[in-house]
Amino acid sequence: MLIAVYPGSFDPTTLGHLDIIERSAKAVDHLIIGVLNNNSKTPLFSAEERVKMLRDVTSIFPNVEVQAFSGLLVDFARQCNASVIIRGLRAITDFEYELQMAHSNRMLAPELDTIFLTTNLKYAYVSSSMVKEVASFGGDISQFVPWQLKDRIEEKYRDRIHEMR
Ligand code: PNS
Repeated sequence: MLIAVYPGSFDPTTLGHLDIIERSAKAVDHLIIGVLNNNSKTPLFSAEERVKMLRDVTSIFPNVEVQAFSGLLVDFARQCNASVIIRGLRAITDFEYELQMAHSNRMLAPELDTIFLTTNLKYAYVSSSMVKEVASFGGDISQFVPWQLKDRIEEKYRDRIHEMR
């Protein structure tokens, strides 16, 4: 049974992430999406909110589950009995960071391999940071995020603007 972990911050999930999830779920028996819960970063959405968003948009895939993790990715992957880590590559600018991470993870856990999927060209420019930037200025994010998440992301910025007043 081939178990894979697809780790990330997913703050928030984009259509690019969903594309990688859909394609890797077809290639493996079981896919575990690992949502990083990192205390040193201040994400827009809490780990619980990010897990919930991912569960809502992946409920149609029977072999996909979503879990939060903290600490080292390789420890989480081992706990999950995964043999593969999945990462998406959007452009050459992603490559150096991804290569460094894949090598580090392989040094820490030689039994784990990283498999890269190239992002669908349609979403090659989409990132969580870009979605946040557009949403923060009231722009239309519907072409970048799953439809189920649009209101939740926009609401977050409405709440923030209220808090600042
Ligand atoms: O979506 P992101 O922010 O690009 O995902 C980065 C992530 C979560 C995959 C990476 O930061 C990670 O694995 N963090 C866990 C800590 C860890 O294992 N670090 C060593 C990898 S070099």
